[in-house]
Amino acid sequence: MSATSSPSNIDTSFGNLRIRRVAGSLGGEVLDLKLSGELDGATIADLTAALVQHKVLFFRGQSHLTDASHQAFGALLGKTVAHPTVPSPAGTRIFELDASKGGGRADSWHTDVTFLDAFPKYGILRGVKIPAYGGDTVWANTAAAYARLPEDLKRLADGLWAVHSNDYDYGAERVMVEEERLNHHRKVFVSAVYEAEHPVVHVHPVSGERALLLGHFVKKIAGFSSTESARLFEILQNRVIRLENTVRWQWQQDDVAIWDNRATQHFAINDYGNQARLVRRVTVHGDPAVAVDGRKSRTRTRPEATNDAQIDTLITATA
Ligand SMILES: [Fe+2]
Repeated sequence: MSATSSPSNIDTSFGNLRIRRVAGSLGGEVLDLKLSGELDGATIADLTAALVQHKVLFFRGQSHLTDASHQAFGALLGKTVAHPTVPSPAGTRIFELDASKGGGRADSWHTDVTFLDAFPKYGILRGVKIPAYGGDTVWANTAAAYARLPEDLKRLADGLWAVHSNDYDYGAERVMVEEERLNHHRKVFVSAVYEAEHPVVHVHPVSGERALLLGHFVKKIAGFSSTESARLFEILQNRVIRLENTVRWQWQQDDVAIWDNRATQHFAINDYGNQARLVRRVTVHGDPAVAVDGRKSRTRTRPEATNDAQIDTLITATA
């Protein structure tokens, strides 16, 4: 295997896939692959194995994809799920981020939907309208961040649990939040409050790597005051987002990015002013995280209003 015996920017160790390494810590561009709902099982197995290794995979030129084929491809990776509070476009389970609307700029570090105990395993994001400049997305490798902690800090983090909520401090990391965005966040994103408790360090179910599970949905560290929580969070979160743990992707129209949501955080840079930016995400259901002692994430608050069966009913009604 020449790719592993000598330094190469092309990884050929996953079947027929050719993966161009984009950064040192994570991120690979899969060359010459057309995503669709018709890909065979061997290719899907290679893709998911590559995803565990590279954490985020990028695909250029997927202009053939529609909402329907985007979802059909997602279904090959697992059960696709709608966002629990943000309505999907009619007849779909898609999560849409439209920069022209209130909630369309994901400009703070997070792992998706960690306010659920069983949070998504993959996000599959398609660039529908990409600005001429700006609007890059950055991903951070949360397993590398854990591996690089001093041993004493690892031992401390291993035993911590965090409460994640969709009712988090939306403005905390943002330089400026317009009133419209705050209102959208309150009315739509927090229309029903969810809270889950996750281990701060979890064991990846496939790789067995330990990874930090934090991001902007963290409301507090269990058992600590809010001031102490904020300090503990800051120490560990700052380790996640060190530049050497990250990869930055400059979107082109019709790119697709797929990330392992169990081993990454991401941040969409809000530097494109009033240019249009529209991306759509298909989300694949995941399992509760598992702590180093084997305990699993648990739900603290979950409203009855939205469940998968009701979402299925809605989709059937509007399809
Ligand atoms: Fe996100």
